[in-house]
Amino acid sequence: MSHRVLTGITTTGTLHLGNYVGAIRPAIAASRAPGVESFYFMADFHALIKCDEPDRLARSSRAIAATWLAAGLDPARVTLYRQSDIPEIPELTWLLTCVTAKGQMNRAHAYKAAVDAAVAAGEEPDAHVSMGLFSYPVLMAADILMFNAHRVPVGKDQVQHIEMTRDIAQRFNHLYGREFFVLPEAQVDAEMELLPGLDGRKMSKSYDNVIPLFEGGAAALKDAVARIVTDSKLPGEPKVPEGQTLVTLYDAFATPAQRAAFRAALRGGLGWGEAKQQLVALIEGEIGPMRARYDALMAHPEQLEAILQDGARRARAIATPFLQALRAAVGLRPYTDTAATAAAKAQKAALPVFKQYREADGRFYFKLLAADGTLLLQSSGFEQGRDAGQWVARLKREGLADGAPVRREAADADIAAALAALRDAA
Ligand code: TRP
Repeated sequence: MSHRVLTGITTTGTLHLGNYVGAIRPAIAASRAPGVESFYFMADFHALIKCDEPDRLARSSRAIAATWLAAGLDPARVTLYRQSDIPEIPELTWLLTCVTAKGQMNRAHAYKAAVDAAVAAGEEPDAHVSMGLFSYPVLMAADILMFNAHRVPVGKDQVQHIEMTRDIAQRFNHLYGREFFVLPEAQVDAEMELLPGLDGRKMSKSYDNVIPLFEGGAAALKDAVARIVTDSKLPGEPKVPEGQTLVTLYDAFATPAQRAAFRAALRGGLGWGEAKQQLVALIEGEIGPMRARYDALMAHPEQLEAILQDGARRARAIATPFLQALRAAVGLRPYTDTAATAAAKAQKAALPVFKQYREADGRFYFKLLAADGTLLLQSSGFEQGRDAGQWVARLKREGLADGAPVRREAADADIAAALAALRDAA
């Protein structure tokens, strides 16, 4: 299978320059890499959790889809879809909900933040918590596991959700006896955190310091740039470019040569007003042509709709048969399908298995058992579950090499045969 990358954007509002530089631009560049299969989607089910304004949600979804396309996403290469067009996702959410520990969800940052805010305001802890908010991480796990994504580019605040996804996947795999789900890795790019807003803090709607991406046209871009906070040095006075918000924003759109020239000009006394004009021109050079495409797409919802319908069709070509297999695995089967039980049992019995688990010491372990349950390999303990998972994947792929953190509990030939059987079955 090729390497699958998947990410979603919650559809509540319009996008700003920070979203573009931190998420959209790198995602589109990544989608052009060979051997990568990309899945990008509008997380509109997630939007419902925090938005009860139907028109705003609908418009935001449309605007974000148009933004991806205007910024250069090629819908022939990338599967671009609306979460809500894939009914298999909520169905998978339920299957996963049934193997998810409530205690683990209690520890989710977003839920805890809502509880803390309520308690601080003297209210009931769960005063503002819907079941949607509480179950948010399970829906996100379904988004990811539905397509067995290997890599999930996200912001830092989402890393915990990817770890939860791994736990849920592991638990399902373990309970139903097969590696149905790939364990995804979070990918947190430094780029995603970098872009400052007008006041130098991270660009974010909650700080009201954003530069809009397309909304309001070139005039809004100019207005926002005019409000970037600088020091009070006058034109002609030498400036210190380092640490200036304006310079960081410039860098995000500039070539190395442009960056050097801009710094030199500031050191030489370039005024902030002139510098802001140069920044507007630089950003507009990249964004202006995209804005024209964006406006055209927003004016033709039928074109957008056709592209999204095609994306949904391709996504479901994967999701529908996979969910069918998952339903059968958990026992949701036609009454006539009595063979499935026997077949699953036979398959389980015939193959060796890796079991991953956590001990009371809090560490993560795995062991390899022969088809008849004999212990073949025992790992040492890992601080991180993902490290254990990576070793399992590696042993399956490459067999047993020196330096693997495992104790041999059986004859080398038996261990080698078991690993070979697993490799053949993969
Ligand atoms: N929760 C993500 C955010 O707020 C959006 C999202 C929903 C997502 N489902 C996802 C991101 C699946 C990556 C993968 O940013």
